[in-house]
Amino acid sequence: MKFFVDTADIDSIRELNDLGMVDGVTTNPSLIMKAGRDIQEVTKEIADMVDGPVSAEVVATEYDDMIAEGRHLAKIAPNICVKVPLTWAGLKTCKTLSDEGTQVNVTLCFSANQALIAAKAGATFISPFIGRLDDLNMDGMDLIQDIRTIYDNYDFKTQILAASIRSANHMKDAALIGADVATAPPGVIKAMANHVLTDKGLDAFLADWAKTGQSIL
Ligand code: G3P
Repeated sequence: MKFFVDTADIDSIRELNDLGMVDGVTTNPSLIMKAGRDIQEVTKEIADMVDGPVSAEVVATEYDDMIAEGRHLAKIAPNICVKVPLTWAGLKTCKTLSDEGTQVNVTLCFSANQALIAAKAGATFISPFIGRLDDLNMDGMDLIQDIRTIYDNYDFKTQILAASIRSANHMKDAALIGADVATAPPGVIKAMANHVLTDKGLDAFLADWAKTGQSIL
């Protein structure tokens, strides 16, 4: 499973990227707002740093404007993936930009039918939002499973990009189901390394080591 980082915070991306853990980055208007940076500038900086797709989202809602924004964003760097919402205008934009050779991430997906129609429109990535479904007492992972089944049934090339990931368990479950990519906040990716027994075991080893009076160096 590829790891995308879901942030526009340069320092967090750099830390994970230096460890070779970043296969791509996703941003959205809320994350750009949170970063407090100019969209063109920060997107360019991320795209230059990361060796993989960097999603930058359009904010227009009508087809002509979405196309104009998408083409503009795509010019920032060769690895820009234009993100469009799963609306009818978004699907039309997806089809046009995909036909032009631009990668497209169709976002705000909450149903298997939406994922199916996005694949038909030529999406490079489909972004089902797990956490936001869980928030409504629905099971976001069931959606990932349904999309996996449908895409495999018909050999769709659209990649499942599990989004709205809120916990390390979400990462594990997405990987078990076979999501192609998971995009998560940096803190969730780092939390995957944590285990209480690791901490406990290390404490015990260090306590015993202190009793030996030895030093390695
Ligand atoms: O990738 C989409 C993500 O940014 C949404 O996450 O936590 O706002 O639902 P969240």
